[in-house]
Amino acid sequence: MNLSELERVARAMVAPGKGLLAADESTSTIKKRFDTISLESTEEHRRAYRDMLFTTPEIDKWISGVIMYDETLRQKTSDGVPFAQYLSSRGIIPGIKVDQGAKPMALFPNETITEGLDGLRERFSEYGKLGARFAKWRAVINIAEGVPTYAAIEANAQALARYAALAQEQGIVPIVEPEVLMDGGHTLERCEEVTDLVLATVFRQLRLQRIELTGMILKPNMVIAGKKSTARTTPEQVAQATVRCLKRQVPAAVPGIMFLSGGQSPAEATLHLSLMNRLQPLPWQLSFSYGRALQESAMNAWRGNNLAAGQREFRKWSHLNGLARTGGFQPGMEQQAA
Ligand code: 13P
Repeated sequence: MNLSELERVARAMVAPGKGLLAADESTSTIKKRFDTISLESTEEHRRAYRDMLFTTPEIDKWISGVIMYDETLRQKTSDGVPFAQYLSSRGIIPGIKVDQGAKPMALFPNETITEGLDGLRERFSEYGKLGARFAKWRAVINIAEGVPTYAAIEANAQALARYAALAQEQGIVPIVEPEVLMDGGHTLERCEEVTDLVLATVFRQLRLQRIELTGMILKPNMVIAGKKSTARTTPEQVAQATVRCLKRQVPAAVPGIMFLSGGQSPAEATLHLSLMNRLQPLPWQLSFSYGRALQESAMNAWRGNNLAAGQREFRKWSHLNGLARTGGFQPGMEQQAA
């Protein structure tokens, strides 16, 4: 393991003003997204969609890296250049999702365990040859009546740490993603309590499994009320609760924290990130690794064939999130930004 290389890549991922595009939707998830624009999910449509995003002019100013799905990492631009090679030529770091999804956890109703450790060393070795420099593994924690259990949190944290160990062994920076879902009617306080416990467990497991904290990235949820909650909270409360929770649980040796958007609207996710970056001093870089918040408008504008409109929207939301990295995004800016 070459530590300085892992650290170099991790730091480049959270370079000032930049963040990640999560374009690693599995085939079943991208089908759900395409259904919303009435587009059939063929291999060529999936390629053309990712091609539209990746070839957007100027995004290299705000996008440090892209998380791809197995199929995407093997695909090419319309000009025949492998995506990983194309992105690297623009200074954008290629990454790969390596987990094989959250599956029902035996004997634990309403909870999941993320699968994909078997054969992972060999897959990492191949992904490295295909150009991936970082990886992602997502664990999913549900909040509901009697859930989450300690058992599900521990099992998912252990799998995250085993994945991270295999990634670092192969010289690939692990993004460790324990996502506490915002489905359900729970309060912000309940989300904070669960996120605290999840992060404490994850970092205990990471230490136990000898993960080098300077060569990894954390991808957490924000501390936020459930989508069905009726309690009113302000964006400032979300920002303060999230930073408070992270300061309690995330060692300063971790170079960066890159949030998921998790079903927040693009404007909400961007505002929350901007507000958090105003709460200086912070011991780590706070950035984005958004899927839906970066892609929603772009996909709706593209609709399968409008390349220029799709790229305009993707460029706009990349730029706005770049501004949020230094606290410079204000509500309403999305109406003016070109
Ligand atoms: P969202 O930003 O849409 O939550 O996706 C990020 C991601 O990679 C989830 O695993």
